[in-house]
Amino acid sequence: MKDKEYVRKARLLMRKMTLEEKIGQLNQVGASIYGTTNESGYEEMAKNGKVGSFLSLHDPERCNKLQRIAVEQSRLGIPLIFAEDVIHGLKTVFPVPLAESCSFEPELASRTAEVAADEASACGVKWVFAPMTDIARDARWGRIAEGSGEDPYIGSLFAAARVKGFQGGGNDGNIDEKHVAACVKHFACYGAAESGKDYNTVQLSDNNLYNAYLPPYKAAVDAGVLTVMTAFNDLNGTPCTVNAPLIEGILRKSWGFEGVVVSDWAAVAEAEYHGYCADRKDCAAEAIKAGVTVDMMGHAYDTYLSDLAKKDGKIRRCIDELCEQVLVLKYRLGLFDRPYADLSRVKDLYSQEKLDLAAEAARKSIVLLKNDGILPLKRGAKVLVTGGLATDKRSMLGCWCFPETQESTVDTLSGIKEKFAADYAAVPVDISRYSAIICVVGETNRETGEAASHAFIGLKESDVALVKAAKKTGLPVIALVLSGRPLALTEINDDVNALVECWHLGSVGGRAIADVLCGDFSPEGRLTASFPRETGQCPIYYSHFNTGRPYIAGQGCRCKFRDCDEGPLYPFGFGLTYTEFEYSEPTIENAVIGKNDKIRLSVKLKNTGKVEGTETVQVYFRQISSKPIRPMKSLAAFKKVRLAAGESRTVKFTLDPDDLGIIRTAALKPERAKGKCEIFVGANSEDCKKIEFVTE
Ligand code: NOJ
Repeated sequence: MKDKEYVRKARLLMRKMTLEEKIGQLNQVGASIYGTTNESGYEEMAKNGKVGSFLSLHDPERCNKLQRIAVEQSRLGIPLIFAEDVIHGLKTVFPVPLAESCSFEPELASRTAEVAADEASACGVKWVFAPMTDIARDARWGRIAEGSGEDPYIGSLFAAARVKGFQGGGNDGNIDEKHVAACVKHFACYGAAESGKDYNTVQLSDNNLYNAYLPPYKAAVDAGVLTVMTAFNDLNGTPCTVNAPLIEGILRKSWGFEGVVVSDWAAVAEAEYHGYCADRKDCAAEAIKAGVTVDMMGHAYDTYLSDLAKKDGKIRRCIDELCEQVLVLKYRLGLFDRPYADLSRVKDLYSQEKLDLAAEAARKSIVLLKNDGILPLKRGAKVLVTGGLATDKRSMLGCWCFPETQESTVDTLSGIKEKFAADYAAVPVDISRYSAIICVVGETNRETGEAASHAFIGLKESDVALVKAAKKTGLPVIALVLSGRPLALTEINDDVNALVECWHLGSVGGRAIADVLCGDFSPEGRLTASFPRETGQCPIYYSHFNTGRPYIAGQGCRCKFRDCDEGPLYPFGFGLTYTEFEYSEPTIENAVIGKNDKIRLSVKLKNTGKVEGTETVQVYFRQISSKPIRPMKSLAAFKKVRLAAGESRTVKFTLDPDDLGIIRTAALKPERAKGKCEIFVGANSEDCKKIEFVTE
């Protein structure tokens, strides 16, 4: 990835740089969600070479003004980078990443990331802090919304796809005008925060680390991601931001990453609060030695590095090496040649074409959880819509986005009104004129995302009361759940005729919901995170171990809760369509897979319903015995198949046992899966048919 020419140029430039100027390149300041931008002093910093990048600025004129100072008035004219949290769109807002992963269509995520990059770069932003690839198995953690759910295979595919979308197709690591540098985060394992409490400690065995949590970050690195963000948490006792074995060892040495590592917000300084570093100076020394290139708002590098460097040759060498990384990134971004945002591009933001893509992504993200046949509703039907979220535009956009396009966002009620004769009432009243009641329940944008951990993830009492009141009317009840996390929906599950997980869908979410309700679009989303029955089941994920006492219905001393039914309310991979699919018994070519053989698998799928539909055929793998142990099931492949009513198709998969076995080292190379194995093929992680075989 390292381009010799850029390195040569960076080194030439560095010959002219003072120590203070080099440290300036490692310093990032700005605002983020922790406050509004206080820009006083920015211009001075830019002029004096005290800063290499700003975060949370995406006003192109403002960016250009600061850039002009850096380029024209600073001693060496080194351009700045403007970085921003463009998590699921800037002006055009796409579904929250968790929702989008339910499309089971990484290529879609690539396209939405590309549009986000286009809008970001038009606004002066050349570095986005996405994708987040933290595996999350505990929905109490509010940031589950920002990733691709619980599964490393899905997580890896979406990680790579988003990196390619943000950065563009080229393999040479150069970023053109319409793309940006991506940043995979949060390295590592932030999603495993104990009890789902944000920023909490993470304790993981090597088995879990290598097989479940690290693969998506590596997939991003393999896809050529240019930057990596360290996580707030400690991992097995060492804060990630000062964790040399993690950054230098795994990321750089094992995976060959040569780009920029940025700390999370103030995380360098927080190593002191973790009780790892004695003081902030120590934090600066530990972080730079661990290989953290940029200190985001920790003010540890700009305050202490200069002193430290004067006494310690190793730190001087680290500063040189890391400064070179920042300069190379600036060359790759083309900032030395094109430092300014092209203001003429602003007119292309939030265009119809981009909104069409947002609508496609939103439709494909929706997951139909329950339907007794009430859906699809007849177009034009008279419906009563209830629930405060129905008109909440901001919440439709979800966490981590900018409210600039909020006014033109299509909320649920507005979308429904485009297809139905809909009235709105805060509570169900005067129901005689309607054919169904639509209850919009769930959570607001502020209840998901960062610092939004919840100890209870059931529905709010008021939402449950609303659904019960609707049920009492005797009319069919359709519940639309707007949320950034899997909620425990047990309390309303039996009361509703249809249950639709709508997530926070972005700019045109309401329109996508209405498309699904009226059948203009047949739902095809599949859950990428398990929906628990009760909060107390968290963390909950399909890919668990068997234990010595696996659950057996009716038996006592088994791995289960006494006061809750076993398993999720809706499992990983689950989602209904408006038609039915029938699976034949799957077959494989050989019951014994020889040393150089692959597993060739086929299953016949038939659309037995009355309308066209898309099925996501899922393949799970299990190795029966392994030291250490392997999960009961691991997603190994899937295919989305569109079939007309009555149509059949044989769906084929080829799997390689070399890719399926246990991972024992940080290089993340799987061993060959040997011995007795099982493959499961079906519609979701629970509803699937098994084949047994042996690999040599
Ligand atoms: C904190 C968040 O953890 C991270 O995801 C984000 O990119 C930075 N702050 C910058 O806003």
